[in-house]
Amino acid sequence: MWKGRFSQDTSSLVQQFGESISYDWRLFAHDIAGSIAHARGQLAAGLLSADEFAAIEGGLHGIEADIRAGTFEFKTSLEDIHMNIEAELTRRIGPPGAKLHTARSRNDQVATDTRLYCRGEIDGLITALCGLQRSLLDRATRYAATVIPGYTHLQRGQPVTAGHHFLAYVEMLERDKGRLADCRKRLNVSPLGSGALAGSTINLDRHAIAAELGFDSITHNSMDAIADRDYIAETLFAIALCGTHLSRLSEDLILWCTSEFAFAALSDAHTTGSSLMPQKKNPDVCELTRGKTGRLVGNLMNLLVAIKGLPLTYNRDLQEDKPPLFDSVDTLRLVLAVNTEMITAMELREDNCRRAAADPMLLATDLADHLVKSGIPFRHAHELVGKAVAEALRSGTPLDQLDFPALDPAFGADAAAVFSLDRALAARRNPGAPSIANVQAEIQRWREIPGLG
Ligand code: ARG
Repeated sequence: MWKGRFSQDTSSLVQQFGESISYDWRLFAHDIAGSIAHARGQLAAGLLSADEFAAIEGGLHGIEADIRAGTFEFKTSLEDIHMNIEAELTRRIGPPGAKLHTARSRNDQVATDTRLYCRGEIDGLITALCGLQRSLLDRATRYAATVIPGYTHLQRGQPVTAGHHFLAYVEMLERDKGRLADCRKRLNVSPLGSGALAGSTINLDRHAIAAELGFDSITHNSMDAIADRDYIAETLFAIALCGTHLSRLSEDLILWCTSEFAFAALSDAHTTGSSLMPQKKNPDVCELTRGKTGRLVGNLMNLLVAIKGLPLTYNRDLQEDKPPLFDSVDTLRLVLAVNTEMITAMELREDNCRRAAADPMLLATDLADHLVKSGIPFRHAHELVGKAVAEALRSGTPLDQLDFPALDPAFGADAAAVFSLDRALAARRNPGAPSIANVQAEIQRWREIPGLG
């Protein structure tokens, strides 16, 4: 492609070192769509005859069909997807193929291809996230009234419903979708026409080319358009944060599946056994989801460090943007699919949940609130209840069975009534609180959101 200036062939070691075709072949459909739009721009500008355009378009479609059929031979010597396709096009259709690269560079080509790739994958990830949200909504519906302890510091805190716990993850995933959609908005602009870095003296209608590719608008600075990889960093961040959320869900489920918690049971289809210990049923999907989050965060770091300090505009370092991008997209896609399936089939062990939630200590705060309602300042109420807790622990008496009036007259005769779990939960009816009625209303609200019904 650059033989004019050179008198030596590229060393085979350099070819091996510099190739990206082993991974960027995946951009073929975007590369071809970009080339057809560019050729149509050339046609409109009078740079191609109708016949030449038809030959280019037909040739590119033929190449695309061969790649899909697995019969296209990618050549490492041709470095990347852009040169593999262009060289093969020229081989197939002759001179018109050699005109395609007019007013274009691989630099604006690769920026176009990766934007189209991110756009498509973001749409797919958002759809997959909706699927996972639906499976969580389904579990929230099934266990809307199942009371479990809510934890802080992994110590029992206050009662919540399992439905509320599942809905917490639906919220996180909704924000993950929002971040991806936001990033999609920013990246959906066409860099085509930016050339190598300074546009071209041959002016094609950039707006028409952008519209054909479904871009909302065009980039406004050729140097930025060539050098920018923000959109990949943003995509990787949104994916890494989503993975981080899922790693927390994984950890909750891992804990819930222990004999110590025993709140949940994953299906046999979504767990593994031990080759040595016959009794084992391991939550590998959760552990791998948690583990793969390391890759997702690493991929983001990989790209940020690669971009850091690069002078404008294109530097070959930027070729390293694609392996982390592809890896994160592939990883999250699989994580979402397997988690959706696993959560759909997961069941709670409601008897154990009920037993754990019956711990009267969970309602110590409610007892303090009860004192507050009779006019005692919260700090004072907190101290009185703290003393009651200490007495319960000292004497081995369950908190709800203490002789409250004897402990302190401030408790009043009705203190023990605080320990009704049903009442305690129903009282948590402020917006955002976990009462069963709230959870049901929230499920209703979620179901009305497009993609979640
Ligand atoms: N394979 C290259 C990449 O992914 C395409 C752009 C090459 N541009 C260049 N000036 N060498 O970055």
